[in-house]
Amino acid sequence: MNLQLPYCFCFFLLLQLPFSTNGQAYKNVSLGSSLTAASGDLPWTSPSGEFAFGFQQVGDAGYLLAIWFNKIPERTIVWSANRNNLAQRGSTVQLTADGQLVLNDRSGTRIRNTAYLGGSGAAYGAMLDTGNFVLSGQAGDTLWQSFDQPTDTLLPTQILKSGAQLIAPYLEKNYSDGRFKLILQDDGNLVMYTTAYPLTTSNFPYWSTGSSLGSGNRLIFNQSGYMYVVASNGTILNRVFSNPVPLQDFYHRATIDYDGVFRQYVYPKSASSGKRWALALTTSTNFVPPDICLAISYPLGSGACGFNSLCELGDDQRPSCRCPTGYSFYDQDDERKGCKKNFISQDCGHPSQEIDNFEIRDMLNTNFPHTDYGYFKSSIVDEEWCRQACLSDCYCDVATFQVGQCWKKRGPLSNGVTDPRILDKALLKVRKGNRTEELAQKKSAKKSDRSALIISGSVLLGSSIFLNVLYVFFTNRKKQKMIPQHHVMRDMNLQNFTYNELETATGGFDEELGRGAFGPVYKGVLGGEDKQIIAVKKLEKMAGEGETEFKTEVKVIGRTSHKNLVQLVGFCNQGQHRLLVYEYMSNGSLSNYIFGDSRPNWHRRMEIAFGVARGLLYLHEECSSQIIHCDIKPQNILLDESFNARISDFGLAKLLKTEQSKTITAIRGTKGYVAPEWFKNLPVTTKVDTYSFGILLLELVCCRKNFEIDAREEHQIVLADWACDCFKEGKLNLLVEEDEEAMEDMKRVERFVMVAIWCIQEDPSLRPAMKKVVQMLEGVQVSVPPDPSSFFSTI
Ligand SMILES: *[C@@H]1O[C@H](CO)[C@@H](O)[C@H](O)[C@H]1NC(C)=O
Ligand SMILES: *[C@@H]1O[C@H](CO)[C@@H](O)[C@H](O)[C@H]1NC(C)=O
Ligand SMILES: *[C@@H]1O[C@H](CO)[C@@H](O)[C@H](O)[C@H]1NC(C)=O
Ligand SMILES: *[C@@H]1O[C@H](CO)[C@@H](O)[C@H](O)[C@H]1NC(C)=O
Ligand SMILES: *[C@@H]1O[C@H](CO)[C@@H](O)[C@H](O)[C@H]1NC(C)=O
Repeated sequence: MNLQLPYCFCFFLLLQLPFSTNGQAYKNVSLGSSLTAASGDLPWTSPSGEFAFGFQQVGDAGYLLAIWFNKIPERTIVWSANRNNLAQRGSTVQLTADGQLVLNDRSGTRIRNTAYLGGSGAAYGAMLDTGNFVLSGQAGDTLWQSFDQPTDTLLPTQILKSGAQLIAPYLEKNYSDGRFKLILQDDGNLVMYTTAYPLTTSNFPYWSTGSSLGSGNRLIFNQSGYMYVVASNGTILNRVFSNPVPLQDFYHRATIDYDGVFRQYVYPKSASSGKRWALALTTSTNFVPPDICLAISYPLGSGACGFNSLCELGDDQRPSCRCPTGYSFYDQDDERKGCKKNFISQDCGHPSQEIDNFEIRDMLNTNFPHTDYGYFKSSIVDEEWCRQACLSDCYCDVATFQVGQCWKKRGPLSNGVTDPRILDKALLKVRKGNRTEELAQKKSAKKSDRSALIISGSVLLGSSIFLNVLYVFFTNRKKQKMIPQHHVMRDMNLQNFTYNELETATGGFDEELGRGAFGPVYKGVLGGEDKQIIAVKKLEKMAGEGETEFKTEVKVIGRTSHKNLVQLVGFCNQGQHRLLVYEYMSNGSLSNYIFGDSRPNWHRRMEIAFGVARGLLYLHEECSSQIIHCDIKPQNILLDESFNARISDFGLAKLLKTEQSKTITAIRGTKGYVAPEWFKNLPVTTKVDTYSFGILLLELVCCRKNFEIDAREEHQIVLADWACDCFKEGKLNLLVEEDEEAMEDMKRVERFVMVAIWCIQEDPSLRPAMKKVVQMLEGVQVSVPPDPSSFFSTI
């Protein structure tokens, strides 16, 4: 058999005349063909070579009989036949003479009938360019196809039929059946379940399209990248993904990942460096559920992470699992196996002797729902009461506290989540005896000077810590009470204004400060004691039905806090009115400042460059959910009373309808602040902001607009081009000719221009992340940037 194979392949290669049936190119796999694992056999490829069927090695554990993307280095697997039972070296897959597809081990024993068709079997097989491997009958009719037996991935044109399911892999590189699944139920509902691992039976649901009752529904992933559930009569019932991505430019897949999230991925086909699978264009959802840490919460099972662990959504919106203080992972390579105590539990035989050996660690915004065995609610229940209640109870592993209520919980702790939206404070009980760690914790705890003083004082005096802590607690509490409850968004200090309040504050929206992409901005004064001056932004062009979107975005913006951002003070969401209230920036916009009549001080301009870079770094990497600004330009950088740069309008991009924002950006022209990927249907990443920052940096250095139609000479019209020319020719002094301060600081001019050229590379992957930009501005060695436009020709 092995001897025959090379002949077969030569035959097909020589023939090179792919047939066409129904417009689909075929390359027949004839009866009797086989492939042997680890023998060097070439896989069966589709006519374009983009997909292959064959064996792929999985670490040292064995071989998967799989289908994969064959033209990308990752060779990403989209289907497999034996994910729970890897084949060993020497195993074969064979399309037998009687038309069955079988997987045999080295000794020839059948591991499984991959496709047992019975009867007369198939006439031939074929790997299609869609990623579907089919077995066809004599008449070309499809008898079996891999598309009908999906594992964890759907490809464009693939249909998930009623009753069919995807099961997540166990880990990123361990393809056995994992802990999550997606199923199109017979009742027509598309549902994600946790599995009762190690079984694949459904445990409980954590996401669904809703009650689209009716049988015979199908889940369609169509060729434009849309995924939706259709009824048997063809009516579209529910959309899952609506991210149109050009199939000719990108590979696509939708995969339920090992972390339980179903994501739509794209991968650019064109040859450019730094390619990888990225989430599909973000015109709408590109993964579900939106927050898996909160979505999975059920009395059975451990939650999105393992027992005793905490799930937290990272800046990349991916869940990560970690262990609470005093606990560590059972298995570093498999964090979802959960965490174990690093200490010996309280001895219930001698509870009173043991109390002093334990202490409570506070964890803000954290809860372990569904693990309660005790609940207390009364006017005497405060945080300290709750603390003591857990310390003195040997069953208690953690207590959670929230305004007058205390819950006692015992292990294994499940469904643990840390999230700013959770109001509970978890009081975790751990054994004492780790001074170093404890000290580190105390340092980082953000206590007011005053309470720190009281606590240290009490330690010195040896008096009752208990009473003093209580005192601090009550003073803090009083402070909180001063803010009227209904006025504050539940989990942050954002004020919820009524429209009338803002109308009064702005004197009937009298003084217009400016007009942005979203609508006008008005100046106003708040009525409180300090008469805070505010800027009120009316959102007129908001996506129509975006009520929940508005709330979500406001929360995201409200959670940000950085000295280079304009701080959100509050919002109004009343009927048709959507307004955002910001602190007022007395020195106006950077645009007026640098493009005005007199040239501002060179050093102040450089400080502004640093400020904008740091603000962007914060938005991209340091705040709780990543924010891509998408519209960095001097008009959106404001200056406070000390001329600090403050980025405004961040977090709003998602609120604009995509078509709108696309047209807005398109009008600005190619050489504006807008990164080229906007026009190329490439995924939009933080690198669009890097690009805009690069242009802004050049403008700051040269104190002129990027585009100046009446420039002295034609090659100077576009600053970005001119600066690149000057850099290439070693004549950077031309850029700052009239600026004495800058002329005296040419080293810095050169560094800043080089950084700017790195930022405006056409190829997003060449542009540095903002962290790198900040480092380079601060003095880290900058290498010579390539010509920004060298990427144009390749795409
Ligand atoms: C594939 O092989 C079968 C059986 O040999 C033959 O009938 C059929 O025409 C072939 N089709 C293509 C597209 O090559
Ligand atoms: C994948 O994980 C499962 C469960 O821990 C384990 O039994 C199996 O051996 C792993 N497979 C590989 C290839 O490591
Ligand atoms: C995919 O579905 C979308 C939304 O229903 C539709 O607009 C688009 O034309 C479809 N594309 C194809 C190739 O069928
Ligand atoms: C198609 O089926 C859906 C769900 O079963 C139903 O709501 C809808 O009215 C039907 N449409 C037509 C045209 O029959
Ligand atoms: C103290 O904490 C460290 C780090 O968490 C841990 O490695 C060590 O085992 C702990 N020591 C004791 C005595 O618990």
